[in-house]
Amino acid sequence: MKQLIKKRATKQVQLFLLSLLLMMAGVSCQNGTSEKGKVSSQKGNRYDAQIRKLMSKMTLEEKIGQLNMLSGDGAVTGPITNTNVVKEIKEGHVGAMLNCYTASYTRKLMEIAIDSTRLHIPLLFGYDVIHGERTIFPIPLGESCSWDLKLMEKTARIAAIEASAEGVQWTFAPMVDIARDPRWGRVMEGAGEDPWYGSLVAKAKVRGFQGNDLSNDSTILACVKHGVAYGAPIAGRDYNTVDMSMRTLLGVYMPPYHAAVEAGVATAMSAFNDLNGTPCTANSWIWNTMFRKEWGFKGFVVSDYTSINELIPHGVAKNLFDADVLAFNAGVDMDMVGNGYIKNLKKAVEEGLVSEKEIDSSVYRILKAKFELGLFDNPYKYCNEEREKNDTLTPQHLAVAREDARESMVLLKNSDHLLPFSKKIKSIAIIGPLGNDKSDMIGSWSAAGDRNTEPVSLLEGIKNKLGNKVRILYAKGTDIDSHSTEGFAQAVSVAKEADVVLLALGEGDYMTGEASSRANIDLPGNQRELADAVIKANKRTAVVLMNGRPLTISHLNEVAPAILEAWFSGTEAGNAIADVVFGDYNPSGKLTMTFPRCVGQIPIFYSHMNTGRPYSPTNHYTTHYLDCPNTPLYPFGYGLSYTKFQYDSLKVDKKVMTTKDTLRVSVVLKNVGNYDGTEVAQLYIRDMVGSVTRPVKELRGFKRVFLKKGESKKLVFKLTNQDLSFYRKDMTFGSEPGSFEVFVGGNSATQYKTNFVLK
Ligand code: NOJ
Repeated sequence: MKQLIKKRATKQVQLFLLSLLLMMAGVSCQNGTSEKGKVSSQKGNRYDAQIRKLMSKMTLEEKIGQLNMLSGDGAVTGPITNTNVVKEIKEGHVGAMLNCYTASYTRKLMEIAIDSTRLHIPLLFGYDVIHGERTIFPIPLGESCSWDLKLMEKTARIAAIEASAEGVQWTFAPMVDIARDPRWGRVMEGAGEDPWYGSLVAKAKVRGFQGNDLSNDSTILACVKHGVAYGAPIAGRDYNTVDMSMRTLLGVYMPPYHAAVEAGVATAMSAFNDLNGTPCTANSWIWNTMFRKEWGFKGFVVSDYTSINELIPHGVAKNLFDADVLAFNAGVDMDMVGNGYIKNLKKAVEEGLVSEKEIDSSVYRILKAKFELGLFDNPYKYCNEEREKNDTLTPQHLAVAREDARESMVLLKNSDHLLPFSKKIKSIAIIGPLGNDKSDMIGSWSAAGDRNTEPVSLLEGIKNKLGNKVRILYAKGTDIDSHSTEGFAQAVSVAKEADVVLLALGEGDYMTGEASSRANIDLPGNQRELADAVIKANKRTAVVLMNGRPLTISHLNEVAPAILEAWFSGTEAGNAIADVVFGDYNPSGKLTMTFPRCVGQIPIFYSHMNTGRPYSPTNHYTTHYLDCPNTPLYPFGYGLSYTKFQYDSLKVDKKVMTTKDTLRVSVVLKNVGNYDGTEVAQLYIRDMVGSVTRPVKELRGFKRVFLKKGESKKLVFKLTNQDLSFYRKDMTFGSEPGSFEVFVGGNSATQYKTNFVLK
């Protein structure tokens, strides 16, 4: 078998293995060996001649100016108050700006760059358009639970249309960090725990933002972030160290970045964290070896916010000068807000620590992006007041936001079919700290969305749905993070008075996102006590959760008859929740991140190894906790529907496949319940024996299928050698012959399986 594996290792793989060894030994590819030096590598580019002509006129200082990004004052329509920024732009010291939007504000800054600089090079405006610009969609973790890749591409498309109308040509998205630790606040920004699924979402998002043609007025540059493995900080604390095996890094954490590169992502962002001893912003292996050499990434790399300066506290640079040399030679082209490149790179070139040729390569990449966007033809094409008025927050965009929000919601529990509520009820009570909230339910990173006025609250959504035919009562009960029980009595009283109750619980939006890790991921404050009191007062209580991460809600799961996970679902949140609660939409979302029973289980994910002592209830000396089961509260892929689906007749079209074959796995899915509905049917594989240990399950297929009640459909999934491949014992990527199990079902706990052999 070893022989076979060796045969499959290509020359490229050998080079890659060498680079791995170098990385492990802490050696970076610099001067001479770096891909950065190859200015000529982009000769085929259609703007090549123009870029070279422009660069031939640029002084070294002007070139370095292109590598510098400053932050705007965030003013929407007001004057530009940061006079330093104005001065720096005039002096040709700025290539890009962040935190600037609106057509008029970006136009003012652009005018300074065009009118006052020697070479009239346009600025690039970048912004965190994470889940929408004006129309805000569900947070990415929520949206990923829709498993609707087309819709995810569409929402990125709309975000790009709106952002580009407000002067923004570059979004710092998608965030593709695999997240298996819900204590980490940034799990809300990505697509959850699975690398295979995360890669598909990464591609859909890049396609949505960038479209086919960057010169189109409504497409923008995407930025894959945070390179790399930012999602695995020790203990879930943001910015903390990441320490992981090369196999996990390559097999689990890197694939979504690679997928984004394959989709043609224009830019990438280096992460804050250190990784196996080297901060990502000083890590040549990530940028020069993997992104550029291995994956053929042709775009430019921007640091994260002052992440170059942070090489000093990381303890790998004595001062900012050294930090700049390290970061630049590691392949980071643009300095976000750190003000270091602009100060130090000229001297670094003079001292021979950085080569001018490499500076040229970086400048080339940045100018190429500006040419591709069409900024040299018309620098003001994205500052279009007319479009800003007509193309943002449109009824069409809001309709998509509502559809997206509905599809994102996951029904976690529904005893005795409590949901959907009948519209014929006489009264309903909306209770809870998020019952009449706007600003939290939109979620962190809400870009240009007006969080205080634009989101539809749950109370408003219910009113919109029921009009004045039904009596609607409301009580807040408690604040999101309060321990006061002052409002409990009123909450209990309205709960008793109403036919049914919607209890809106969850987190504040500030509790997830950057720098928002939590050591305890229960419902904050005294919401659990409020839930106990309200449910005791009215058994017909359905909980609506609004939050940005999996929470530990074992107790709630015991006491609440129904729980709908609504996430922070954006501008149309209230309307979308009302659609689901009253049955105008049958929930179809499935979790993309495991819900633990308690924090002690974290990190918890479905795709774990079997271990040498898999848990057995009859053998104490097997892997387990004394005080908590191993299993999650809700597994990856889990989500209920108002109807019921049944899987039957699972078959493979051949029992033995070769590496050249495509295996067809078929199953019959039937809607056996009482409602029409959509099921996300999932396929998992297990490689039974490998040269290294293999996960108990790995997602390799899914289908989102709508079935009328009583209807059934044969689903056919395809598996190829690529799906069975992994980083083997010798770190080459490929499959190994042997037995596989293949599982199909409605979530990752499915045991409905068959098997086949790879020859
Ligand atoms: C820091 C965050 O880590 C990153 O995701 C974001 O894009 C930048 N700040 C810019 O706001």
